[in-house]
Amino acid sequence: MPGLLSNPVCLTVIWFLSWSLHPSYAQIWTDEVSDVQYGRLDSNVTLACGKSQIRTPVVWHHNHSSVFLWHQVTSNGSLSLFHVDQSAQGNYSCYDDSGLLLHSVTLRLGYPPGQLSISCQVPNHTHVRCSWRQSIKTFLPAKYNASIRGKEGEWRESRPCIVDLTNKHCDVQDPSYWQTIHRVGVTETNALGSHTDFVAIRLSKLLKPDPPQAVSVQEVEGYPTKLRVSWKNPTSWPDDTFFPLLFQVRYRPQGSHHWSEISTTYDELEISDALAGHSHQVQVRARDDVDSESQWSEWSHLSVLTPWQATYTTPDPSEDPTFFNPFSTEPVATYETRGLQGDEGNLGLVILLVLFSIFILTTVLSLIFVIWLRQKRHDHATKQELASMVKMKSIPI
Ligand SMILES: *[C@@H]1O[C@H](CO)[C@@H](O)[C@H](O)[C@H]1NC(C)=O
Ligand SMILES: *[C@@H]1O[C@H](CO)[C@@H](O)[C@H](O)[C@H]1NC(C)=O
Ligand SMILES: *[C@@H]1O[C@H](CO)[C@@H](O)[C@H](O)[C@H]1NC(C)=O
Ligand SMILES: *[C@@H]1O[C@H](CO)[C@@H](O)[C@H](O)[C@H]1NC(C)=O
Ligand SMILES: *[C@@H]1O[C@H](CO)[C@@H](O)[C@H](O)[C@H]1NC(C)=O
Ligand SMILES: *[C@@H]1O[C@H](CO)[C@@H](O)[C@H](O)[C@H]1NC(C)=O
Repeated sequence: MPGLLSNPVCLTVIWFLSWSLHPSYAQIWTDEVSDVQYGRLDSNVTLACGKSQIRTPVVWHHNHSSVFLWHQVTSNGSLSLFHVDQSAQGNYSCYDDSGLLLHSVTLRLGYPPGQLSISCQVPNHTHVRCSWRQSIKTFLPAKYNASIRGKEGEWRESRPCIVDLTNKHCDVQDPSYWQTIHRVGVTETNALGSHTDFVAIRLSKLLKPDPPQAVSVQEVEGYPTKLRVSWKNPTSWPDDTFFPLLFQVRYRPQGSHHWSEISTTYDELEISDALAGHSHQVQVRARDDVDSESQWSEWSHLSVLTPWQATYTTPDPSEDPTFFNPFSTEPVATYETRGLQGDEGNLGLVILLVLFSIFILTTVLSLIFVIWLRQKRHDHATKQELASMVKMKSIPI
């Protein structure tokens, strides 16, 4: 069909057919029951004063006023409106010369359906949702029907795609997922005509999970550079193990342009290189772990958190004497705030002493090492001498 449509000869024939089948007067569509007449904007519209031939001269009113432009009343009482625009819509009534109401009709104007752009989403292996957009605004209420078919097996027959009119989409349950190509058609019908468009889709390429849900970022107590991230499968993805998801977590300090990324098949992980004291942005996305053609989901909403910080999360050590944290600077801080400034000098002395003993120890150890090395070389040399003497002795003279 797309091949056919791109053929210029075919296009000409189709254009000619649609032109000859739709002369301008045929673009009027009368709804006899509700007395609503539909007309095409920018065209000429003729309104009849009732169904039967009327010979007496008639008077037309629009919206209960007799003032309107660009019109003509023909000999049989019909009203012709030329090149109508939106303001020509409304209530039209025709009266005979005695002022008796003969007929009234509501005119609604718009355009016949035009091209539709159709796109489909595949949130899991058992569901296809297709939605569409109008290329032109028709101004008229429309109905839609849609269908889907595959190329092989029982899916060669087209089956309906169930339309949700308010949201302009349709749903198919349990499509034949492993078929390569499906064809989706959508027909729009309004009072002025109908139009069908098709799109060929590849489900495995369109498979795109919804973003992971319940993404949670937590601090790891005692670790100022760690963040723990956990999440859940999107509710639209089956929880069973037949369809594993691959997850990607990205994170960066707020204000940075560069994201760091980690992939996993689990539903949580620990970031260990966060920037201490900075708030971080974290997001997670998912993809089918088996189907490498499929797409990544959108990123989850931004989660923002600062890793654990000594100053505001540490329990007061005076309350909890067993609390000890090797990364914390807290003990020094509490030392000061307790007003033990007098001990500061002693502390410096202790550090100096420790450094000095380390220095002495290192020197002594290096000395011992050097001596041991020299001794070893000496031994080696003596061995070599002995060996050459033995060799010389064994040479026959
Ligand atoms: C509408 O009527 C006018 C006057 O009769 C004519 O010139 C014009 O071509 C018509 N337009 C269309 C779209 O038929
Ligand atoms: C009245 O005449 C116009 C043309 O002059 C024609 O198009 C229309 O069909 C006629 N209406 C009726 C009700 O006969
Ligand atoms: C007549 O009424 C319709 C709606 O009732 C409105 O859209 C249209 O603009 C009105 N036209 C005039 C000329 O008052
Ligand atoms: C149009 O006007 C006529 C005459 O005033 C009235 O009887 C009729 O109910 C009106 N129709 C609509 C749809 O407003
Ligand atoms: C919509 O329904 C019409 C009439 O039954 C049919 O001709 C058309 O093929 C249908 N469109 C699609 C896309 O199935
Ligand atoms: C697949 O996605 C659809 C639409 O979100 C959902 O209604 C359906 O329950 C999902 N199927 C499974 C097996 O999760």
